[in-house]
Amino acid sequence: MRLTFKIRSLSGALVSLFIAFCLTACAIGGDGTVSSKPSAVAVASAHPLATQAGLDVLAQGGNAFDAAIAVAASLGVVEPYSAGMGGGGFWLLYSAKDDQYHFVDAREMAPSAADKDYYLNKDGTVNRDRATNGPSAAGIPGQAAAFAHLAGQYGKLPLAKSLAPAIKQARQGFAIDDHYRKLLSYRLEAVRRYPSSASIFLNSGQIPDVGYKLVQRDLATTLEALARAGHDGFYQGPVAQRLVTAVQRDGGDWTMEDLANYKVVEREPIRMAFGNAELISAPPPSSGGIAIAQMLQMLDLYHWQSMSEADQTHLLIEVMRRAYRDRAEFLGDPDFVDVPTAMLLDPARAHAYADSIDMTKATPSLSLKGPKNIEEGFHTTHLSVLDKDGNRVSATLSINLPFGSAYTAAGTGVVLNNEMDDFSAKPGAANAYGLVGNAANAIAPGKRPLSSMSPSMMVSDDQVAILGTPGGSRIISMVLLGLLEHQQNKPVEDWVRRKRIHHQYLPDVVEYEPGALSQALQQELKARGHTLKNVGRAYGNMQAILWDRTTNKVTAAADSRGIGSARVVSVAK
Ligand code: DON
Repeated sequence: MRLTFKIRSLSGALVSLFIAFCLTACAIGGDGTVSSKPSAVAVASAHPLATQAGLDVLAQGGNAFDAAIAVAASLGVVEPYSAGMGGGGFWLLYSAKDDQYHFVDAREMAPSAADKDYYLNKDGTVNRDRATNGPSAAGIPGQAAAFAHLAGQYGKLPLAKSLAPAIKQARQGFAIDDHYRKLLSYRLEAVRRYPSSASIFLNSGQIPDVGYKLVQRDLATTLEALARAGHDGFYQGPVAQRLVTAVQRDGGDWTMEDLANYKVVEREPIRMAFGNAELISAPPPSSGGIAIAQMLQMLDLYHWQSMSEADQTHLLIEVMRRAYRDRAEFLGDPDFVDVPTAMLLDPARAHAYADSIDMTKATPSLSLKGPKNIEEGFHTTHLSVLDKDGNRVSATLSINLPFGSAYTAAGTGVVLNNEMDDFSAKPGAANAYGLVGNAANAIAPGKRPLSSMSPSMMVSDDQVAILGTPGGSRIISMVLLGLLEHQQNKPVEDWVRRKRIHHQYLPDVVEYEPGALSQALQQELKARGHTLKNVGRAYGNMQAILWDRTTNKVTAAADSRGIGSARVVSVAK
C-alpha cells in the first residue's frame, strides 16, 4: 500500500535540489513579474502593545531589525511571563540589501560553575527545584546581547530609539489582562517565594485584577542602561553587578566573568529546497530547523495533499515520530558536540525513513530505537516583521516556563530564565516537559541548552512566508503544520488557526487539540494502532506574515489562541 503513495524517486529529490540552487543563485525580482519591495509593512506579535511598538519604530524610519528589537523589548515588558531581558532566543533575519540570511543565536549559556552533575543531589537524584526555580535555574541571558548585535550590525536606529517604547511601557505601566493572570496562576507559588518578584508582579501577595497597572521602574532603568551603553550596559558595570550580587546571595553561581563572556553567535541557518521554494530555519542549538526539514523531506516523497484525511494524518504522525527520534539522539550545542547535520538531511535518510512507514499501521516508537526524549511547553513568544524594503525577521524568544525561574534580580527588574532545565540534568531524568535527553545535551560550562524554538521562513520567487510560535517541543510540529497550510496555498489566517496534532517519538502517543480529530478520524487512527491523547486545551501562539510577490499583497495573522495582534500598514507611495 505504501508504494502507491510514494511518488518521488531520488532523482526527483535531486531535481528539487537543482531548482533550489537556481532559486538561490538566480536573482529574484527585477524581471517585472514579481515585486522586489512590499506594498506594506507588517508586524505580528503576541501582544498589541508590542506590535504597536514595532510599527512606531518603522514609522520613525527604523528597518525590520530596529522594529524587531522594539517588539521584543516591549514583549519583555508586557509579557513578563514569556521572554525578556533575563532570557534569550533565536533571530532569523533576511537582509534585502545584500540578499543574505543571518541567524543570530542568543540562547542562554550555562554559567561556568555548572557541570553535568550541577542539579544532582548527593544521592544522585535530580533536584528539580534547583533546576526550575530561583537563580540556580538560570542560564546567562542573551537578550540584551541580541539587541545590541542587531542594532549594531543590521539596524538603522540607535538602541535609545528602538528601546524607547519598552522603556516607556515599563516606567509608565500598562493594564494587565486575563492572560497575565492565567500565566501568573501557573507560577504563583514560586513567584511568592521571591520578594523581589512578588513586589512587582503581585498586588499585596495576590494575583492582580484585570486592569491593574503594572509598573516596572527597575526594568526601565536596566533598559536605559542598555540604550545608553549598549552590550556593556547590561553585561558589565552596575547592572551586571546587581545581577551577580542578587544571584549569588540567593543561591546561584553567576560571576561577573560569566556575564562579560556572553556572546551571541551568528550561525548558518538550515536551508533546504522544496519544489520551487526554500525553507530557511533554525540550526542547532535549536532542533527545529533540522526536524522541520526532515519532516518536509519525507512528506515530499508522497502525494500527501491528495490523500484522505486519515492517510494524511497517519503520515504526519509517522514523519513527526521519525524526526523527533533523531532530535532525541543527535542534537545539542554544536560548539560542544558534533551534530551530524549533513547525515540527518541526506535525502537517502528521508528515503530510508519513508520506506519504514507503513500506511496501514503505526510504527511503535521503540522499534525505531534511540534514547527517550519527551517535552512540551507553555510559554515563550514569537514575532514576525516585514519592512518596506523587504527586510524580515522571524524571532522566537523565551525565558522557558511562565515567569521563567520566577526570580527577579533585585534592583534590575530582570526576571531570570530557567532555561538550564532544557539541558538533560541526568541521562534518563525528565525535565519540566517530561524531556529525557542524552550526552549531546548534558550540561557543561558555557554550553547552550538544546531548544525547539524554530523561527522560520519559506521563500519562493512568488511568496515570502515568515512564521513561528512558542510551545516547547510542540513548536516544531506546529511550524510544520503551518508550513503545510502555506504549501496548500491557504491564507495566512489558516496557518495560525489550523488545529494541531503532535507526536514526539516518546511518549508514543498522538497529542491533539480539542476538535483537531473528528470521531471518525480517531477511530481510523486507533485502528491503525495509534494511541490518542486529547491535551484538553488549545496550545501555541503563532505569528505569521505572507508577502505575495506576484500580487504584491501583504497579509498577516496572530494566533487567536493568544491575545496577539498582526497589523499590515500600506507603504505611502
Ligand atoms: O527552547 C525551548 O525549546 C523551550 N525553552 C521553549 C519553551 C516554550 O516554548 C514554552 N512555551 N510555550
